[in-house]
Amino acid sequence: MKYKNYWRKTGLKKPFGDQFLSFLNDINPKNVLEVGVFCGVTARNICELLNKNHKNDFSYFGLDLFGSEKQNNIDEIEPKFLNNQNFSNPLKKIYYNYILKENLNSLESVSKFLKKFSNNIQLVKGDTKETLNKIPLEKINFVFLDGGHSYETVNSDLNILMQKLPKNSHILCDDYCENFEIIEVSSAINDFCKKNTLKVGKKFNRFAYIFKDQ
Ligand SMILES: C[S@@+](CC[C@H](N)C(=O)[O-])C[C@H]1O[C@@H](n2cnc3c(N)ncnc32)[C@H](O)[C@@H]1O
Repeated sequence: MKYKNYWRKTGLKKPFGDQFLSFLNDINPKNVLEVGVFCGVTARNICELLNKNHKNDFSYFGLDLFGSEKQNNIDEIEPKFLNNQNFSNPLKKIYYNYILKENLNSLESVSKFLKKFSNNIQLVKGDTKETLNKIPLEKINFVFLDGGHSYETVNSDLNILMQKLPKNSHILCDDYCENFEIIEVSSAINDFCKKNTLKVGKKFNRFAYIFKDQ
């Protein structure tokens, strides 16, 4: 399956969207969590793939601040787009900001965008320091970790995930290496994996891959 943009904004531009989907397809999970939903484009692509592979028998959980207050401001790196919804394409700016007057990173907008999968999805608004504990992590097989990018938030997210995810689950973390490396993110992942004697692999010159084998 090819990754589609749906004329919205995404964190996964070409070729990473396609690589991400192909990787997800190989792992073939039924229950997926995305930490950091942004405008819902990766969410929609994940749901389309899961629906194709498992018919209606899948679940997607998406966590994001969706405009609410975060608990940590130190080193937090956020997409610039979130400040004023500024598009490089002027037509998108007119369409979303002046005609629809729609904030693409809102819970309402993403819920509407994922409406065809409403029976399979759960979107949760708030800081992951609180929201990660509100979803059934024990049933998740695959996590795309792409939320808060501070050392503290990545470390906190990994701690919660590692305690509660089941055996044989997979975590793919964005912004880990090469041109995409965010030093707070890579340091948090490396320190966490070292402390917990976990192996961390590199994927597509961008992501970190962690497998929880017990
Ligand atoms: C890089 S974007 C995610 C991109 C998305 N995964 C995609 O593929 O399009 C990061 C998102 O994480 C959210 N975020 C940042 N800090 C967060 C936190 N502490 N808790 C929950 N979400 C957070 C932001 O609101 C933003 O939408």
